[in-house]
Amino acid sequence: MMTQDDLKRAVAQAAIEYVPVDSIVGVGTGSTANFFIDELAKIRHRIRGAVASSEASAQRLKGHGIEVLSLNDAGDLPVYVDGADEITRHLHMIKGGGGALTREKIVAAASKKFICVCDASKLVDVLGKFPLPVEVIPMARSSVARQLVKLGGQPKLREGFTTDNGNVILDVHGLQIMNPVELESTLDHIAGVVTNGLFARRAADVLLLGTAEGVKTITV
Ligand code: A5P
Repeated sequence: MMTQDDLKRAVAQAAIEYVPVDSIVGVGTGSTANFFIDELAKIRHRIRGAVASSEASAQRLKGHGIEVLSLNDAGDLPVYVDGADEITRHLHMIKGGGGALTREKIVAAASKKFICVCDASKLVDVLGKFPLPVEVIPMARSSVARQLVKLGGQPKLREGFTTDNGNVILDVHGLQIMNPVELESTLDHIAGVVTNGLFARRAADVLLLGTAEGVKTITV
């Protein structure tokens, strides 16, 4: 029987095919991204280094002897590999379950190709069952929460959590996101919102989905 970790490892291995020789690789955050980092370690002599989307991933990369560069020094990247909390067949995603959404969105935006690596449990028809993370400047917490309620959501403060950027996260429950591109823009225009966890305007380019029948490659 294939475990969820087996599926994550399989997609992480498949993602290595998308890493160009001599490149600087954008690296995401989370348990699936961790498997990818472990695979990247095996080919570390074929890459120049990595840009990490979190302190946690930077530490893991360095632990494997992979050089970690800042995005400012690296410039644009050929490829960004990361997991997701939910993804549709249009390759729209909810991300930020691990709280690293802002840096993830920045590194993804600076990357030519976004390769999403997921086990089959992440594929959904409609986004929103997984609470949508919204990173907020601390002083705007209550006012942003009221705006989110007006949009039909139930925001809950992620207790005891501060992002790598010193902000808080509101996890928005109860949404059925029929138009992720539009909602992503709407949320970004609320004063005090730093980033929201919808990755729809810049969706993934390739989904590597780990299933019991093997890794499926899905593009739009
Ligand atoms: C991190 O902030 C998230 O966006 C992750 O990409 C997401 O939570 C996926 O994590 P897992 O691979 O652990 O499910």
